[in-house]
Amino acid sequence: MNGRTLPGPIAESWIIRDGANVSPSYTRSYPFVMAEGRGARVWDVDGNEYLDFTSGIGVTSTGHCHPEVIEAIKEQLNLFLHMSGTDFYYPQQVELAETLNRIVPISDPTLVFFTNSGAESVEAALKLARYATGRPHIIAFRNAFHGRTMGALSLTASKVVQRRGFAPLLPEVTHVNYGYCYRCPLNLTYPSCNVACVREIEEELFRTEVPPDQVAAIFVEPVQGEGGYIVPPKEWMRELRELCDRHGILLVADEVQTGMGRTGKMFAMEHFDVEPDIVCVAKGIASGLPLGAIIARRTLMSWPPGAHASTFGGNPVACAAALATIRLLENGLVDNAARVGAYMLGKLREMQERHPSMGDVRGLGLMIGVELVRDRETKARARDIRDWVVQRCFEKGLLILGAGVSVARFIPPLIITEEEVDEALSIFEEALTEAERELLGVAA
Ligand SMILES: Cc1ncc(COP(=O)(O)O)c(C=O)c1O
Repeated sequence: MNGRTLPGPIAESWIIRDGANVSPSYTRSYPFVMAEGRGARVWDVDGNEYLDFTSGIGVTSTGHCHPEVIEAIKEQLNLFLHMSGTDFYYPQQVELAETLNRIVPISDPTLVFFTNSGAESVEAALKLARYATGRPHIIAFRNAFHGRTMGALSLTASKVVQRRGFAPLLPEVTHVNYGYCYRCPLNLTYPSCNVACVREIEEELFRTEVPPDQVAAIFVEPVQGEGGYIVPPKEWMRELRELCDRHGILLVADEVQTGMGRTGKMFAMEHFDVEPDIVCVAKGIASGLPLGAIIARRTLMSWPPGAHASTFGGNPVACAAALATIRLLENGLVDNAARVGAYMLGKLREMQERHPSMGDVRGLGLMIGVELVRDRETKARARDIRDWVVQRCFEKGLLILGAGVSVARFIPPLIITEEEVDEALSIFEEALTEAERELLGVAA
């Protein structure tokens, strides 16, 4: 794999045609042109093989083309493709709603609204939060990513390129500090800080700028995704819940990336023993078919017919794929994510002892990030090392992606084995060793 020249000739010709016809706003890190995928393996149009530790950006949770998912899709294809759950009924949508209501980590009765994507789920949650509380204001976090439609974008604060040129965004949105302990925005240290970043919301924001009785919801990613795979302390989430309860504010968990078994529990909020009021899902729910949903306390979902709907939301083929996906998750893949995720995190922590650029290794289940730095003392971000490693891993047959400024992220499918992790990490370490030699002058 080391010797191959990429992109190959067929890939190159597709990339040229793409450049002439497709929006330049997409963010391709390297020239991978997919031809086929099975499990954790993918092949490009020139026949090169790769290990996929991106899952098509957190989506192919059961691996590429899991036979049980394909079978469920085929069965549905023979019945009907679409009827619109907005205007008619069909069993697949009802069954999926029942399943989501059963597995969501909210103890009260809940109801489901179906969407087609993560951003649409966030839009739906935003509208529901305002509708249910009658309050206008929303709080979100710095580094957050909630999507790119206008409402979701207003909550996103991970990179300015995502916001530049699109103002005015939604008014009545405030961003506050996340529990990013490796780079504490308040320059404090956990746990002696007593999660001052949550107290700051009450003691500063609510005192000076935003009346808490005007706040509909706090939107939180249980682990920040695009912002850099940042895992906050358990206590941080608990304090956030208590803050919401004191002021009648809804806690909305954006589990678009963290949900559906990714973190080794069905929903990441279960790691914190905190119940949200609304949960947003998408990405991994249907193993690759476009589907999203919000699951909310029944008492909140009191909006009348016509208040919110979507022609395609809850498409029957996507629902069939989701039902098969959730069956697989419950029958072993969530447990596999926990077990193999812990194995991978352990291996990366061992690797950290050999590599000065590995500033922080963190994650839950199979959502793992390595923050690359120039120097462990100063924690100066090493974006060049991250970019080098991502590119070289591609050339050596491993697909990974970046997150935040200098984080390399691993999002393998939940079917991944320890042997595949070993294979991926040996490629990653090779690439990192080269990057440290070339960019930091570290002797191999
Ligand atoms: C936490 C989170 N919310 C929302 C979104 C937006 O999802 P989509 O790209 O499906 O609109 C993403 C996508 O990366 C995400 O990670």
